[in-house]
Amino acid sequence: MSDVLIVMVAIAVAVIAVAVVQAARIVRLVLKARRKTRGIERDQLWERIYGLDWGDVTTNNYGFAPAEVDGPEQYQLQMYSELFKRLRARGRLRVHTDLLEVSCGRGGGLAHLVRGWPGSVRAVGLDHAENAVRACRAAHGDIANISFVCDSALSLPFADRSFDVVVNVEASNDYGDYAAFFREAHRVLRPGGAFLYCDTRRARDVPGTTQALRDAGFDATFNDITDHVIAACRQDSVRRRQLIRTRVPWLYRILLRRALENYAAIEGSRKFAKFRSRHRVYLMTCAIKTPAPQPALPPRADQRRVVELLA
Ligand SMILES: C[S@@+](CC[C@H](N)C(=O)[O-])C[C@H]1O[C@@H](n2cnc3c(N)ncnc32)[C@H](O)[C@@H]1O
Repeated sequence: MSDVLIVMVAIAVAVIAVAVVQAARIVRLVLKARRKTRGIERDQLWERIYGLDWGDVTTNNYGFAPAEVDGPEQYQLQMYSELFKRLRARGRLRVHTDLLEVSCGRGGGLAHLVRGWPGSVRAVGLDHAENAVRACRAAHGDIANISFVCDSALSLPFADRSFDVVVNVEASNDYGDYAAFFREAHRVLRPGGAFLYCDTRRARDVPGTTQALRDAGFDATFNDITDHVIAACRQDSVRRRQLIRTRVPWLYRILLRRALENYAAIEGSRKFAKFRSRHRVYLMTCAIKTPAPQPALPPRADQRRVVELLA
């Protein structure tokens, strides 16, 4: 064998070895994340997902059909439009709105809301993944009154009562403690403020989720929008397959094909079947922050005297 051939074979072996090691790390992360490990592994997974080249893709949710707008991300953007409709229906639109989206991903949903907002708005998008925040700044940094920060949903870097509206789309299952997040959302909202929230849940966990929202101090009723999500997944399956084919490196695609199709709830995947059989449902609400219960004040001196006389 010539020297050139030996060098080429050696390089090829080295490249394959590096790719296999990388793929094995990703598989380990996915498996750990699926075992419901909290925090760090899921964060690393998100960082890697956003580290891929997603081109001009700006959203990452299952979507809502029918959509009222056109375009490749019509169903994903409709999810945000549906939340906005609920805000309007509950009479919570203000002349000026301080708006926070927790877990904004690549920011397309927040940009969609801000562009269509009927009054003046100051918007902040927050995400834990640095790669996502970087993509947000590059894609939407030119929109007036919008900014992006990198931080955690479970310790929001904002003072109490800073926002009129908090938005959260399809992210709370990743936090490890969604009840703690509901309390954080309540803390940063002004009294009467609105929490626009949607996510998937196992059917048996719906009562617990409703209770956690109420315990955090929200007046909330969930709408089950699973049928709309199933329709969006079905109608968007071709695009999702195409994204996996064109955006995910080939080795990951081969090793993780089923996990990727499942993650994207493509028609025929396990996740899609779970929506159809209602083992998993999709919930949406515009929850209103009710005033926190006031601590009972000790009776004044003259009231104490009356109590003593009556005793
Ligand atoms: C399915 S994506 C949804 C993104 C966006 N809401 C959308 O619909 O396009 C979930 C997002 O949650 C973010 N996330 C996960 N854990 C987080 C945490 N602890 N704090 C803040 N963001 C988190 C991920 O980085 C990811 O961007």
